[in-house]
Amino acid sequence: MSANAETVTQGVQGVHRVTLRFADDVEHRVEVAPGQSVLAAALAQGVPLISQCESGSCGTCVARVCDGDVRMNSKKQTALLSSEREEGYRLTCQAFAEADSVLELDYPSTLGEQTPEQSEAEITELEWLSSNVVRLALTLPEDQTFEFWPGQYARLRIPGTEDWRSYSMSSAPGEAPRVEFLIRILESGAMSDYLRERAAVGDHIEVEGPHGAFYLREPEGPLVMVAGGTGLAPMMAMLDTVRVQGSRAPKTLLSFGCATPDNLFHGDELELRCFWMSKLEVRTSVDQAPEGYAGRIGTPVDALQAADVAAPGTTAYLCGPPPMIEAARARLIELGLPADRIFAEQFTPSAE
Ligand code: FES
Repeated sequence: MSANAETVTQGVQGVHRVTLRFADDVEHRVEVAPGQSVLAAALAQGVPLISQCESGSCGTCVARVCDGDVRMNSKKQTALLSSEREEGYRLTCQAFAEADSVLELDYPSTLGEQTPEQSEAEITELEWLSSNVVRLALTLPEDQTFEFWPGQYARLRIPGTEDWRSYSMSSAPGEAPRVEFLIRILESGAMSDYLRERAAVGDHIEVEGPHGAFYLREPEGPLVMVAGGTGLAPMMAMLDTVRVQGSRAPKTLLSFGCATPDNLFHGDELELRCFWMSKLEVRTSVDQAPEGYAGRIGTPVDALQAADVAAPGTTAYLCGPPPMIEAARARLIELGLPADRIFAEQFTPSAE
């Protein structure tokens, strides 16, 4: 901002200065007018904040208030968990500055400079993995660059409609132009209906991405991953990224759960990862099972223990439905993991 512009806004009633502090220590200060969201102000002033829905439903634009006063409408239903709100997290697309403030973003300033690309991909694999999960592999055009960080997601346009849905990539970035997704099939839903009734290998589907600030950070210690259902997808991308480090790959725990045994999937893929990665442990749980079931019954959160987070530098990644995320976050903090070492991506039905 020029000195002149600063002079003009200084002292304007209700305008507050919000400092946006990125994980790479880059700071940007923006002027936020009354009634203007922090996100709108940042984007208007050229600051690369991550966002997607801009309606409070995806959770992509989250930031943490570390000084000042930034508020959200407490009556509006959003993707933010109540525990996150209490810890100072805000969705910048729904947040308004009440005072000069400082917000921390848990991603580097370069992430927002990533430009999502749109292209038409071909369905090359389509496989039912369980009673309600489909593995969808696409091949992007050869001239298409699709660079993403493991954990990020893309939007897929449902063929024959104007509707888009968001899904995390389950393949590692190095596998492009092949890109894979794990998609939960709902009883009714536009994408679910398409995949169940009409989709076929050879179909074309529009892809746009990458998006999102949920991604694998440079490991500073062990990794703890907690995944519910198709929340396994970004964890697969992360596992396949760290496994190429061979013996330098960090000790990793994946606690994965589904509702019932017939919902479980990717057992063979996880077994293979355990074979390849000597420091990987997988705990698989089901919420409920018929009598005599030999596996673990409970949630993937129940399977977490204090020893899992005891090592310095442990970082946790959570992906699944909101109640699982909330329970996992609370449990990990109770076990002693600092809140700023926990990164989460929650699924909502519209996102699936
Ligand atoms: S951009 Fe989706 S919640 Fe803010």
